[in-house]
Amino acid sequence: MEEFIAAWIARHGATRDRLLPLLHAMQEEAGHVDDAWVPGIARALNLSRADVHGVITFYHDFRRAPPGRHVVKLCRAESCQARGGAAIEASAARRLGVAMGETRGDGQVALEPVYCLGLCAIGPNALVDGRPVARIDADMLERIALEVAA
Ligand code: FES
Repeated sequence: MEEFIAAWIARHGATRDRLLPLLHAMQEEAGHVDDAWVPGIARALNLSRADVHGVITFYHDFRRAPPGRHVVKLCRAESCQARGGAAIEASAARRLGVAMGETRGDGQVALEPVYCLGLCAIGPNALVDGRPVARIDADMLERIALEVAA
């Protein structure tokens, strides 16, 4: 990952405000931002390791471990919660066999929270491998489970 960081810095600069774009680029490249990469990131941007670690752990979107082959993100924001999001989350965890915020042991699927997809009127909502899915109910959840089993 050192080479990736060096190439990215050469294109985009090494100012402190480059931290978030670099982390996003690394996650896009590798699927996650590994803790082992923190010292290299800190050195490249002249930040402390604590600064980098703090940003990675503050933002829910950054993964610190490789994701599952499929990623199901369930909306936990207010409107989806008011439309039964908590019950859908519990059902999804049971049906997919993975707790919220975790990747299933076989690496097939990860279940992650997301906070508002801008589809509030037609919730509860999810992103399945980046594709928005609205009005999730038991039938829709079953379709999602079959989709991510493939
Ligand atoms: S609250 Fe879930 S999409 Fe806005």
